[in-house]
Amino acid sequence: MKKIVSLLLICVTLLTVLMFTGCGKVYTVEDIKKEGKLVVYTEAGFAPYEFIYDNKLVGVDVDVMTKVAEKLGVELDIHDVNFDTIVGAVQSGKAMVGAAGITITEDRKKSVDFSHPYTKTEQYVIVKADKDIPTVEDLKGKNIGVQQGTTSDILVDNLIKDGTLDGTTLTGYNTPALAAAALDKIDAVVTDKLTAQIIVKGSNDSLKTDKLLKADGNVAAEPEAYGYAVAKGSEELLAVINEVVDEMIASGEISALEEKYNDMAN
Ligand code: ARG
Repeated sequence: MKKIVSLLLICVTLLTVLMFTGCGKVYTVEDIKKEGKLVVYTEAGFAPYEFIYDNKLVGVDVDVMTKVAEKLGVELDIHDVNFDTIVGAVQSGKAMVGAAGITITEDRKKSVDFSHPYTKTEQYVIVKADKDIPTVEDLKGKNIGVQQGTTSDILVDNLIKDGTLDGTTLTGYNTPALAAAALDKIDAVVTDKLTAQIIVKGSNDSLKTDKLLKADGNVAAEPEAYGYAVAKGSEELLAVINEVVDEMIASGEISALEEKYNDMAN
């Protein structure tokens, strides 16, 4: 009997530890007001959602987060970090929000909670202008560049692992633009639609881009939706973000901002 009780105690302790380490830090609205700032992590190589213009961090996500901070009555404290560190920083409580055109995926949902989706995208492939747009099958044995830790990275990695892209090499770069700048060394870059189109627009006709399709004409990956990431269980903060997102979608502001920053970029 004693043994069972102590075994149970050990289990309960372990579970509690696991629960807390798994959840990271939940910021209540009161916590955020006390801090006086909304700490947001982004990666600013991703126009039109976040990019540097005139030495300033601007973009759709920056404007949405400015509204969220206003609603909370605090300052926006936004940091430019490597994309592949953002979800972890949100999970651990270093960041209160991840706002970086982050695709909502089942896998990421194990680590963080997401706001309502605020826009959609699909995977595009960029090549030199004198090449044909490759299908997935054409990428077999080629060298592909992606932004490290993105859904493009995960997609190509999975295609290599399942044998579809046998002999293909995958290189991760800090930004999609850096991957595109390597297009002399590599054959193709895979990234999200609007970012791909902006990179091509700024390339002086030296690059081109289109949807990444399979040889049978089907898309290589399902369409993706972007959401803002918060630590699991951050219900109050999520409610404020969702209120802003819902308003900005209904008023057409999100699409207007996508257009505005699309024109501004490059
Ligand atoms: N939507 C893609 C993903 O979630 C790419 C996002 C990249 N964002 C950025 N700010 N660099 O993986």
